Amino acid sequence: MEKRKVIFDTDPGQDDAVAILTALASPELDVLGICTVAGNIPLDLTTKNALKLVELAGRTDVPVHAGCDRPLGRALVTAEHVHGATGLDGPDLPEPAIAAGSAHGVDFLIETVRAHAPDSVTLLALGPLTNVALAFAKAPGIVTRLKALVLMGGGCFEGGNITPAAEFNIYVDPEAAAMVFRSGVAITVLPLDVTHQMLSTRARIDAFRALGNKAGAAVAAILSFSERFDVAKYGSAGAPLHDPCVTAFVLDPSIFEGRMVNVEIETGSLITRGMTVADYWGVTDRPKNAFWVRSGDADRFYQLLTERIGRLP
Ligand code: RIB
Ligand code: CA
Repeated sequence: MEKRKVIFDTDPGQDDAVAILTALASPELDVLGICTVAGNIPLDLTTKNALKLVELAGRTDVPVHAGCDRPLGRALVTAEHVHGATGLDGPDLPEPAIAAGSAHGVDFLIETVRAHAPDSVTLLALGPLTNVALAFAKAPGIVTRLKALVLMGGGCFEGGNITPAAEFNIYVDPEAAAMVFRSGVAITVLPLDVTHQMLSTRARIDAFRALGNKAGAAVAAILSFSERFDVAKYGSAGAPLHDPCVTAFVLDPSIFEGRMVNVEIETGSLITRGMTVADYWGVTDRPKNAFWVRSGDADRFYQLLTERIGRLP
């Protein structure tokens, strides 16, 4: 079976961590590298956390490269209130022994896509789209060379999470998101509409802990830490789990349902900055530029994640 080549662009981050660990455990995927971006926490911490994750997974063969330390044209907004001061509070992971590669993450992204056959590399974006937008601007040829961009971001029926209108990844760098959604790249969006269905209930967290391996214990600690904020906010039986929906979609898209829609990004308004205006009911004739995932099977989702995390050390 030919492995599917993927590159992560990410701001780990509690949920990013689970998404990355799941991919590193999955034999169907060839993780070509991890580019980090400022988002949940500043770039130095997202990069350190990515290094911790490849070490935890026993996958130091996967290169990590630091990308942009701020949005294209805005001040950085971070989310320590959700992810903790380190961005990976919860598990006690050792300081990484390895270092990030010397190339800038945007250049690594460009060169890696160029180095592989057209239509063979899928970009998995789990944070603000700063690196992705810059790579597309610097090397427009990779837009059509990429097989697909699968991203966590936005919301329609679920509104926003950092403001009433906007989801965090899009809110942090709306100009970058607007560039990406207008680029013509084949986009699949895993928005709050579906991630809010994937609740990390106590039973699901316990299943990770029951795996008995280091990775399972770390994921249980991560989810137990990150749930405290969202359970209080939503009053739900568990916290939404966002970024692993991207990895799960690539591994088994049958878990999810969605449709092609037009998505535009609000960049001018103070009130609705970063809103993903998804024309889900087709009331405009704007071009359908994204596959918008609206729902998914939470039990199958968690079964997949748990089985894969169980394969790690
Ligand atoms: O809104 C959720 C998204 O913002 C996730 O990617 C989370 O890691 C944060 O980056
Ligand atoms: Ca993220």
